[in-house]
Amino acid sequence: MISLAQGTTCHRRESARDMTTASRTSGTTLETARLRLEPFALAHAGALSLMDSDPAVMRFIGDGSTKPLDETIAAIKRIQDRWERLGYSWWTIFEKSSGTAIGAACLQHLENMDEKPLEIGWRLRPASQGKGYATEAGRAIIEFGFGKIGANSLLAVTNPENVRSRKVMERLGMTFRGTETHYGQTCVVFVIERDWPT
Ligand SMILES: CC(C)(COP(=O)(O)OP(=O)(O)OC[C@H]1O[C@@H](n2cnc3c(N)ncnc32)[C@H](O)[C@@H]1OP(=O)(O)O)[C@@H](O)C(=O)NCCC(=O)NCCS
Repeated sequence: MISLAQGTTCHRRESARDMTTASRTSGTTLETARLRLEPFALAHAGALSLMDSDPAVMRFIGDGSTKPLDETIAAIKRIQDRWERLGYSWWTIFEKSSGTAIGAACLQHLENMDEKPLEIGWRLRPASQGKGYATEAGRAIIEFGFGKIGANSLLAVTNPENVRSRKVMERLGMTFRGTETHYGQTCVVFVIERDWPT
């Protein structure tokens, strides 16, 4: 069993509503040795748009098309609504040493449908790849998903050709489950169970 005390700290906004998981975890910032993960905010739009408009980052995401700034802003608003409703969604990843927004990562339902299992995911600006940041963020989100949300298992899915994302899944100790269709596409699926060894 993993412990939230190990390696990751959680901070949340205090709220008068504290009855449900959503109100307990909504607005949770995760902190690791090198990173701070903050729930998506409109102030992050410029940094998130740098990734959404970069074909190299978007190659394996959705249909591979890039997004203009207004679509990034609309996505942030949808994600803020999910944070309020569910108590988890997407975080912007900040590098603590520079204060720069360098990526994004998520805990969300597959295909954004509440009845589907929870998945974790990540993307980094090209200059911030190759430093272990996606794995570090993914580990913090797994701890949050098991420790705070009460998930029993978490999935990760990607295009079979997305070798770098598959390697993140393997480094996180996830197990290959097979090939399935998600988001209308063929994906490799990796899974991690709640008794994830630390
Ligand atoms: C998927 C993606 C996030 C993976 O990024 P990444 O940089 O390869 O993964 P990590 O951040 O975990 O970094 C791991 C690499 O950093 C290296 N590294 C360097 N310094 C390190 C350190 N201090 N600690 C850990 N790893 C370090 C590791 O050796 C590893 O390199 P390797 O794979 O060549 O051995 C990135 O390729 C990406 O953003 N792709 C575009 C978006 C995308 O496709 N997202 C996934 C959709 S499913």
